[in-house]
Order: sequence, then structure tokens, then C-alpha cells
Amino acid sequence: MTKHIALKTAIPGPRSQELMRARQAAVPRGPYNITPLFIARGEGAVLEDVDGNRYLDFAGGIGVLNTGHAPKSVVRAIQQQAEKYIHSCFHVTMNEPYIRLAEVMNRITPGSFQKKTFFANSGAEAVENAVKVARNFTRRSAIVCFEDAFHGRTLLAMSLTSKVHPYKDHFGPYAAEIHRMPFSYCYRCPWGKRYPGCNIECGTFLEDFFKRYVDPASVAALIVEPVMGEGGFIMPPQEYYPILVNICRKYDILVIADEVQTGFGRTGKMWACEHWGIEPDILIASKSIAAGLPLSSITGRAEIMDAPMEGSLGGTFGGNPVACAAGLAVLDVLEEDGLPARARRVGEHFLAALRSLQDRRPLIGDVRGSGLFLGIELVRDRTTLEPATDEAAYVVERLRERGVLTGTDGPFHNVLKLRPPLVFSEDDTDLLVDRLDAVLAEDAASR
Ligand SMILES: Cc1ncc(COP(=O)(O)O)c(C=O)c1O
Repeated sequence: MTKHIALKTAIPGPRSQELMRARQAAVPRGPYNITPLFIARGEGAVLEDVDGNRYLDFAGGIGVLNTGHAPKSVVRAIQQQAEKYIHSCFHVTMNEPYIRLAEVMNRITPGSFQKKTFFANSGAEAVENAVKVARNFTRRSAIVCFEDAFHGRTLLAMSLTSKVHPYKDHFGPYAAEIHRMPFSYCYRCPWGKRYPGCNIECGTFLEDFFKRYVDPASVAALIVEPVMGEGGFIMPPQEYYPILVNICRKYDILVIADEVQTGFGRTGKMWACEHWGIEPDILIASKSIAAGLPLSSITGRAEIMDAPMEGSLGGTFGGNPVACAAGLAVLDVLEEDGLPARARRVGEHFLAALRSLQDRRPLIGDVRGSGLFLGIELVRDRTTLEPATDEAAYVVERLRERGVLTGTDGPFHNVLKLRPPLVFSEDDTDLLVDRLDAVLAEDAASR
């Protein structure tokens, strides 16, 4: 595989090359690029680059485009709002789209209790705010999070994020009072057990954790991605969250569901929490909320959300009216086009096709996820589970050359991540399976 490691990313055409030179001169390397492409336009599931190449977009701008590229009714809502006013700052003069979107979020998030919502600009900012609210309400400071979690790149969010390279290296000191426990990663079970004969030790371990690592009386909240995204598309078994939530309830610890990636139908239900029937105290969302305009939401039980005093929460741009108008239009599209159900149907077809590919291609160790939030874990050996990291990078490159955009995730960068717009059809997913099969055949032949 060494020749694959040496593989240089091919830059597709003269216009991209010109822009890449300008990018390298003007922009530091820290803000990374997983492809050398510059987008010219996008429509539905298809992205076109500045050299006229067209790609089937399984990356969706990191899971942002549940309603596809530039959905017409959302574009119209953005235009109409921008013609009236673009900004007012919610703290100076309030705007109606903010209030209406808050009402919708309160209605559609899990739990029949009274809720309140406020808005910020990004997933990381939503994480920061959820933790602020939880600490203020409980008057406790500790937060429990998970191995392989990803919660963003600001100081607190980065501290909650697990992966060291590239997210944390040399960016310390990190925020205090963060306690990390292993997650329910069945394929690489931290307890070396096999489901279902494992007694869900990963869940009941929380009681041990409170004896050995942190006093539950000091814990404000447990924060979790219901289906772990950047950590490798990990979907815990059915018993897991009810166990965790019950333990949290016993110690008056709040549960924060980070649905930044998994929300808005991505996993085949509006919220991933619904797969386990759990009702978090605070749910944060972002990514697909406004079809690509920067926006995030923090929704929670009314009494919790009202704890911080007036003036203690907010920011200049949070809940921008154009983004909120886009958010309202996105929710209409999701509902009218039945996109969560579509994600479930197309996702089942996709998962079955990938599992049958797994039978033929030994590099595929595991295929998992739900709806159109699927991961393919590549391993060199199905017994030792040695991560096939270089092979995964190779597959992503070869797929791009065949007009399919994907990426890698997971602690070992060996999980192919598939989170396309929910407007994808079975034909679109079949195309990926065919092309992946061809790339894996080529890889096998080259060894
Ligand atoms: C689960 C989760 N939380 C938080 C974030 C951070 O969001 P943002 O990049 O908008 O700050 C992400 C981003 O990928 C995420 O996947």
C-alpha cells in the first residue's frame, strides 16, 4: 500500500489550480481541505466545480445539506428576507423569524414538556451555550463526555472533543472539569465483550465512573452525540441510552444531546434520540438547520433554559433573521417532502447493498449507522481489526476521481463517511456502491 500513501491529490483543472495557488498564498494551512475542489454551483445532490466537473456529493458540506444544494423554496425565503432586512441583532430589535423558528423547535424536539429555544451561529457555540445553561441551572461544574466524541473547536468544545490529532495538539491548556468515559463502540468494544451477551457494561459503567473518577454531585451534565459522527458513525445498542439516562436522573444530572450532525432527519427520524425514545433536557442542533447559512439552536426544558439571568446569553449575530427564515423554509421542505422517511427508506437499501459488498470485499470490516448517516470501517484484518487508514485515504481519492465525494472519520481515520443530502435516491446510492466495489477490486488487485 505504500504507493497509495505517496499518492498526491490530483488537482482537477486550470481554474482550480489557479485558485489553489491563491488559496495557499492567502490562507493558512490550519483550515484544512479534504478535496482540492472549488465549487462553482450545487443543485440537489450534485456539485459542480470551477472546471466543470460534476460530483455526486456524499459529503454534503459535512452533513449540512439535508435538503440538498440550494433548495428553491429556501433560496426564495432567503431572498425575501434579505430584501426586508438582513440584521437587527436580537438584543437590539427582535425579529419574527427568530420567534417563529424557536416555536417550531420547541414543538418538534423530543419531550412533551414546556421548552424554550435560543439561537447561536455554529455547532461549537451551541455546545458552549448548552454547557453554560446546564452549569447555571444545576450550580455544578463538571461535565461528562465520551471517548471519540466531537463537539467542535472553540476552547470548551475542543476540550470536550476527544481526538488529539489534529483537533487538540498544542492548543492547550484545555477547559477544566471535563471527564471522559468510553463509548458504546461495539465493533471495538472497550470491555472486549460481544453484544448482546455483554450486559451493556458500557452503560452501567457510568455508576463505576461516578465512584472512581468524578463525584456525581459535582456533575452538571452528560453530553453525548446520540449517533457518534466524527468518532466513526457509532450507533449504540437499544438498551444503552435508557441506562445512561436513568443513572443521570438518579443524580439530577442533565442530559445534553448534541444533534448537530444527526438532527433534521439525517438518521431516518427527525432526531436521532427518537431511536431510543429518550428525551434530553437540552438538545442542540445546527448544520442542516438553515441549509448552509450559519445557525444553531439550543432547546431545553423551560425551567432550565430560564435559569441564566437576563443578559447572560447571546451574541451579535445569533439567530440572524435571514438564517432563521431559511430555517423555517428548511423545516417546511423536510416535512412536505417527507425527507426523514425517505432517508430511512433509501438508507435501508443503501445499508443492505453495502453489507452485501462487505461479504465480497474483506477490507470492509463493519458497515453501520442509520438513515443516510452511514460509516464503512476499513480494516486490514478482520480478526485483529488493524485499521486500514492509508487504504481509506486511497479509496476516498479514487472515488473522487470517479465523481463521488466522501471523506474519512473515526479515531484511526479509517471509516468512510457517507452523509449525503436526504434528497438522494436508491440510484444515487447504487452508484456509490458500484464505484466503491470497483475501487476495492482495484486495490485488491494491486496487492
Ligand atoms: C456532533 C457535533 N457537534 C458539534 C460540532 C461543531 O459544529 P461547528 O463546526 O458548526 O462548530 C460538530 C461539527 O462537525 C459536530 O459534528
